[in-house]
Amino acid sequence: MTQKHILSGDLLVFHDDPFEVPPEDAVQIQSDAALLIENGKITARDSRDILIAAHPEAAHHPHPNRLICPGFIDAHVHYPQTAMIASWGKRLIDWLNTYTFPEEMRFDHPAYAAEISARYLDLTAAHGTTTMASFCTIHPTSVEALFTEAAKRGQRIVAGKTCMDRNAPEGLRDTAQTSYDESKALLEKWHGVGRLSYAITPRFSPTSTPEQLEALGVLWAENPDCLMQTHLSEQVDEIAWVKDLFPNARDYLDTYEAFGLLGERGVYGHAIHLEPREIDRLKDVDAALVHCPTSNTFIGSGLFDMAGLKARGVSTGLATDTGGGSSFSMLRTMAAAYEVAQLNGSVLHAGQLLWLATAGSAKSLHLSDKIGTLEVGMEADIAILDLASTAAIAQRYNNATHHWDRIFPTLMMGDDRAIAEVWIGGAKQILS
Ligand code: GUN
Ligand code: ZN
Repeated sequence: MTQKHILSGDLLVFHDDPFEVPPEDAVQIQSDAALLIENGKITARDSRDILIAAHPEAAHHPHPNRLICPGFIDAHVHYPQTAMIASWGKRLIDWLNTYTFPEEMRFDHPAYAAEISARYLDLTAAHGTTTMASFCTIHPTSVEALFTEAAKRGQRIVAGKTCMDRNAPEGLRDTAQTSYDESKALLEKWHGVGRLSYAITPRFSPTSTPEQLEALGVLWAENPDCLMQTHLSEQVDEIAWVKDLFPNARDYLDTYEAFGLLGERGVYGHAIHLEPREIDRLKDVDAALVHCPTSNTFIGSGLFDMAGLKARGVSTGLATDTGGGSSFSMLRTMAAAYEVAQLNGSVLHAGQLLWLATAGSAKSLHLSDKIGTLEVGMEADIAILDLASTAAIAQRYNNATHHWDRIFPTLMMGDDRAIAEVWIGGAKQILS
């Protein structure tokens, strides 16, 4: 017989998008509540006493003074950059050439790709992240390794082979044809297998010829249910370079649009320095943008305009951008998103930050029907937060006067020590 589990405590529940409805109404903390988990899914949600009485055979896991959240969803990462996170002193293009490309070169070795895949998924689970959309390297082995490790763990993941056929070193370039062929073979092997899905992944316009972008646009048109992930308008120097490389393009987004790489299932990382036409087109097609605040401050890219883009109704997720981002933690990322919004003259509510890190990222990855909330029927990916995980946070928590005031210090000051328990696909994880 299937083992049933009941998790009880305070639940984070979304009734609406807190950027469209006032956050206090859209996001609720349900006290003394409980979830029933069986066969990897949430099968009931009710008050604790009712659920326990209805399912006396279930194993009960009480979580007083904690917050039971959907597992965090990191909508843009580079798992191959795990071992070079926090590399000093460069801006985007120099940072790629100096630190990133030499490290990515190592992923043609299956054993190294497997080692970093396992290390990355251990680290992220310990930080409460249960799903991510990852760039791999140009090597198919890098995709095989990550999908193999995620499948072993029953983990939902989105990933793709990063395609580059110019402006990258020898050994880290494919061609228009091989990028199409290899991406297609990987997609056919892995997309939709268990909890795995494939994203077509041109790295960014500067490292792709028009021929490669066109080939990947064709592949996307042939597989429209796949996501397409890339980078957009991250740094001012990068945008000037794109203008030189694509003199006929109207703007950065047009280098994708012209080759069939703009669409509803497009997921564009960074998107800081957008032109009005770009925002209009992204909104028209309902594409998703991903805010990577620790990366944008760490590499010196700029301030993402969350308030302006959400006011336009643009779909937005949240991400660490490991290893341009300086942390594996979505808590740390929420804190950075809050700080960036402050620098931009707006304030994000704790409910908005938690929504971005869960339901918002799920929406941007078109996974809202599976993950990102604690609704009945959803896959049981859960992160349970200790709201008093360090002495510094505890003394603030003890001084709080209402529930958001008890939660916000953990969003601002928390890290992996605040992650009390993690469930992936209905299985409690042993955290490293
Ligand atoms: N633009 C193209 N590649 C990358 C990358 O690996 N990280 C970041 N932050 N930006 C990029
Ligand atoms: Zn990136």
